[in-house]
Order: sequence, then C-alpha cells, then structure tokens
Amino acid sequence: MLEALRSARLLRFVTENRMHSAADTSRASFEVRPAQPQDADTIAAKARTLATAHLTYDPSRFYLPDDIESVYREWLSRADPASDLLALVALQAQPGGAGESLIGYTIAEHFAAAPHFWSPAHVFVHDICVDWDSRTAGVGRLLIDHVAQWARSRGAMHLRGLVAARNTGARRFFRAVSFREAAVEVTRDL
Ligand SMILES: CC(C)(COP(=O)(O)OP(=O)(O)OC[C@H]1O[C@@H](n2cnc3c(N)ncnc32)[C@H](O)[C@@H]1OP(=O)(O)O)[C@@H](O)C(=O)NCCC(=O)NCCS
Repeated sequence: MLEALRSARLLRFVTENRMHSAADTSRASFEVRPAQPQDADTIAAKARTLATAHLTYDPSRFYLPDDIESVYREWLSRADPASDLLALVALQAQPGGAGESLIGYTIAEHFAAAPHFWSPAHVFVHDICVDWDSRTAGVGRLLIDHVAQWARSRGAMHLRGLVAARNTGARRFFRAVSFREAAVEVTRDL
C-alpha cells in the first residue's frame, strides 16, 4: 500500500516536472526527473569532479573519499521524492532521437526546524552540478526551480546551501537564482 502511494506520488512529480520543462520553450530540450538507480554511476562520476574541484578551493577544508562512487551509490539508493532526500537529474535529448544524456544533477535534503543556529525547516542543497559544456543554458536554474517546488510542497521555509568561499562562479550562480549569502562558515585547522 505504502509502495503504491509512493509510486503514485513519484509519477505525479515526474509528470509535473515534464509539463513544467516543456512549457518553457527556452528550456524545451532539457528535462528534469528524479534520479533512478541506473543514474548512480554517472552522478558519482560528476560528484568526483565536483569534489576534486573543491580540493583546489581549500585542500584542508575538503576531502575526497577514495570510494566516493560507493558512497554516492548508497546515498542515492535512499533518495525518493516521497522521503526527505531528493535527487534530480537533468537530461538533454541527443540529436536524431539517439536517447538522452545526463548533463546535471542535484541532491537536496529536507531538515526540520532545529535549535542549531536557530534554523527553521529548510531544504539543504548538498550538490548541484552541470556539465561544463552545458553551462549557462539555464539547466542549473531549472534544477533549483524543481527543488524549490518540492521544498514548498513540503512546507519548508528556505532553500539553503554551502558554497566554497573561492567558488566564485557558484556564488554568482546562487545569487542569480535568488539566494542571498546569509552566514559565513568559519573553519580552523588543528
Ligand atoms: C553552478 C552551476 C551548477 C550553474 O549551472 P548552470 O546551468 O550553468 O546555471 P544557469 O545556466 O541555470 O544559470 C542561472 C543564472 O546563474 C548565472 N550563472 C551561472 N553560472 C555563473 C557563473 N559562473 N558566473 C556568473 N553567473 C553565473 C547565469 O548567468 C544565470 O543568470 P541569469 O538567469 O540572470 O542570466 C554550474 O556552473 C556548475 O556545475 N558548477 C560546478 C559545480 C559547483 O560548483 N556547484 C556548486 C557547489 S555544490
């Protein structure tokens, strides 16, 4: 019964996403849907690139687990729009009807209100990544729009994320999609 309910909600989510994407002609060639188990390896490869870039921003603050692929596979196996963990992928149709390629992903999580740093209920965007040659075409914005739609449907008050101080491109992206820089993480090496 619970499984049937989850499937129905998932189907509605995918259908709404497809309608949303198709309605915007400037983004008609992109589609966003919840990640499926078969996407895990492709997402993990992108996550490795993302984590490697973070080592260049601050090698002391960030680390790259050797087994990042299995870490992501396990993490993604728990993602489901009906749960607190959401993983979405952006797909682009290949020319000539040759299928679709996965050009970006995001992972976000819904957290309840908590007294830590006086935090109301929010959705935290853990990762967002778009392939280099698909950037500045609106894919990142489309992924964030879908996360925001999911977050609103769950009654969250904010979207939130952490961005490496030296990741100036992503900081500009988040400002462009209506995030504000609300707090500063401070880290001390020991
Ligand atoms: C950040 C990232 C996801 C943006 O994706 P994208 O598909 O290129 O973003 P969009 O095309 O949807 O851009 C949305 C807005 O952000 C702006 N923007 C995106 N990247 C930008 C950059 N590097 N510098 C300045 N503005 C940028 C766009 O100009 C656009 O603004 P507009 O709508 O006012 O014209 C992508 O650059 C990326 O994958 N970066 C590497 C991964 C990363 O650092 N992720 C964040 C930390 S987890």
